[in-house]
Amino acid sequence: MDEHELINEDKYITKRKLEYYEKSKISIFNKYCVSNKIIGKGAFGILKKATRISDDKEVIIKYIKKSKIKKNQLINGLPNEYVILKNLNHPNIIKIYDYDEDDYFYYIIMPYYKNGSLDLIGKILTENVAGWVFSQLFDIIKYLHQNGVVHLDIKPDNILISNINNMNIVLTDFGLAKYQKYTDPGFKHVSGTLPFMSPEMFSLNLYSRKDHINFDKVEDLYRGDLADIWALGIVFYIILVGKNPFYDSDTFRFVYKIINDKVSFISSKKNNLIISQNCKIFIKWILEKNPNKRPTVTEIKNQIIYIPFGFHVTFRSLSNNKNFNL
Ligand SMILES: Nc1ncnc2c1ncn2[C@@H]1O[C@H](COP(=O)(O)OP(=O)(O)OP(=O)(O)O)[C@@H](O)[C@H]1O
Ligand SMILES: [Mg+2]
Repeated sequence: MDEHELINEDKYITKRKLEYYEKSKISIFNKYCVSNKIIGKGAFGILKKATRISDDKEVIIKYIKKSKIKKNQLINGLPNEYVILKNLNHPNIIKIYDYDEDDYFYYIIMPYYKNGSLDLIGKILTENVAGWVFSQLFDIIKYLHQNGVVHLDIKPDNILISNINNMNIVLTDFGLAKYQKYTDPGFKHVSGTLPFMSPEMFSLNLYSRKDHINFDKVEDLYRGDLADIWALGIVFYIILVGKNPFYDSDTFRFVYKIINDKVSFISSKKNNLIISQNCKIFIKWILEKNPNKRPTVTEIKNQIIYIPFGFHVTFRSLSNNKNFNL
C-alpha cells in the first residue's frame, strides 16, 4: 500500500503534518522508531511497524483518527479499544505496551506478530488444527464474556498467529468491542463486518424494502455475546471449508442467505473436504439463526473434548440431543 495515496485520501492530515508529529510532538516518537511500512489500513486509521528504541523490539503502532471516532466509542475521553484491552489479561488476547495521543490521533502500541492474521494463511486447515484454533478462540470469548466484554468483530483478519508451528493465536482489534453485562437487554446500534454478522443484527422489515439495508440500527435489541458466538461459528466454517457458508457476491442476497439459508458442507475438487459428521453437526448447532436458541458458552464447552499436547479437539455427538434437529 502506498502511504502517499493513503494520506492524500484524507485532506485532514497532510504528509507533512504526519512527519512533524512523528518527529517531535509527543513522547512515543522519542521511544519508538517508526518505519514506513504500513501493516494495515482500517476504517479508523492505519497500523505501522516500529522499533522500541530501548531494546530493539518490533512493535505495531495503531493510529486511530480522532475525526472518525464517535462519542460512544470513547470511555472517559479514551478509545474503548484502549480502555477495554488495558483491563484484560489473557495469554491469547493482544497486550498493550503503550498509549499516547495528540490533536489528530490516538496511538496504541502493541506487540508485532510477524505471521500476520489468519486471513493471510491462504489455505484451509484440517479438522484437528481448525479445532485447535476454534478451541483457543472459544476460550478467549468465554473469558471476554465472563469479564462483561463483547468483541463484535470476530473474523480471521482480527486473529493473529502468534506461533505458526503450533497454530497459536491472539485476538486483536477491539475497535468495536463494548462492555455488556448479563443483565443488559442488548444493543440497538449495529457494528461489525457484514459476512460475520448474525441474522438478528439485520432489520428484517428494512431488508424487505429491497432497496436499502440499514446497517446502523436494528428494530429489536440484539445481544453482543450471542452475536460473538455466531461469528465464532462462521470463522470455524471458513477455516475448515475456505469460504463463508452464506457467501454471495450481491450484498442483498448475502444478507438474505445469512437470515434464511441452512448451512451445508459441499465438497468440491478444490477443497476436497474431510470433515467428521460430529464437527459438521457442531457447526450447524452454533450457527443457529434464532439467538435465543443459539448455544451459550457453557453449552459449547460441554461439547468439546480437549486432548492435551496436540491439535486434537473432538466433538461429542449432538445427534442424541433432543433440542437439536438437523
Ligand atoms: N500486532 C500485529 N502484528 C501483525 N499484524 C497486525 C497486528 N495487528 C494488526 N495486524 C494486521 O493489520 C490488520 C489491521 O489491524 P486492525 O484489525 O487492528 O485494524 P483496524 O483498523 O481496526 O482494521 P479494520 O477496520 O479493517 O478491522 C489486521 O487485519 C492484521 O492483518
Ligand atoms: Mg481489523
